[in-house]
Amino acid sequence: MKLGVFDSGIGGEAVAAALRATYPDAKIVTVNDKAHVPYGNKTPTEVLSLTKAALQPLLSSDCDIIILACNTATALTIVHLRKQYPQQKFIGIEPMIKTAAALTKTGTIAVCATPATLKSDRYHDLLKKYGSELKVIEPNCATWAYMIECDQINHDSIKRTITNVCDQGADVIVLGCTHYHWLKENIILATAGRAAVLEPSEAIGRRIQQLLTKS
Ligand code: DGL
Repeated sequence: MKLGVFDSGIGGEAVAAALRATYPDAKIVTVNDKAHVPYGNKTPTEVLSLTKAALQPLLSSDCDIIILACNTATALTIVHLRKQYPQQKFIGIEPMIKTAAALTKTGTIAVCATPATLKSDRYHDLLKKYGSELKVIEPNCATWAYMIECDQINHDSIKRTITNVCDQGADVIVLGCTHYHWLKENIILATAGRAAVLEPSEAIGRRIQQLLTKS
């Protein structure tokens, strides 16, 4: 099995690492767009054109499945990509609002994601579908992807953000950007046991299995 994994930057490596553990025999090819990361502060038109250009090596290399390991690119391009490349199977990544809604006891969740994801119609549709009864806090994470990409992480600021959403009652924190997967352990520590932290690596593994079984 050949899996293609795309992200603007090192978020894809976090997802690929999880997939390698689940599918040790798979050939996993990762592609990124370091020249243009971060995508999360760009317009939908820019993200679409950059994603399409960056994906070309994967689209021409017979991947069984291409995983858009990028919430931002998924939100802004996956509908278009599925239309333009109907023979290619894609899996996208989206903030886990449905799971968060099922888990929360306080009715308050926090979604950490890029500005472009938070502004997207696809995210707003998710909120309407699964989050309409919830209080959803969207802390400002606009600088996080770039900080993580450059390994210049302001741990104090991230800790303050997490403490603040927990103080506001969030008992589930959704990591809606794959760059943040690299900080999952720090974020879990910052919650001091007050919130569950969700990211979709396992769900992607399950989705791959479903698609393979189908075909
Ligand atoms: N890792 C990407 C995501 O999941 C975005 C990071 C960025 O390029 O801003 O949204």
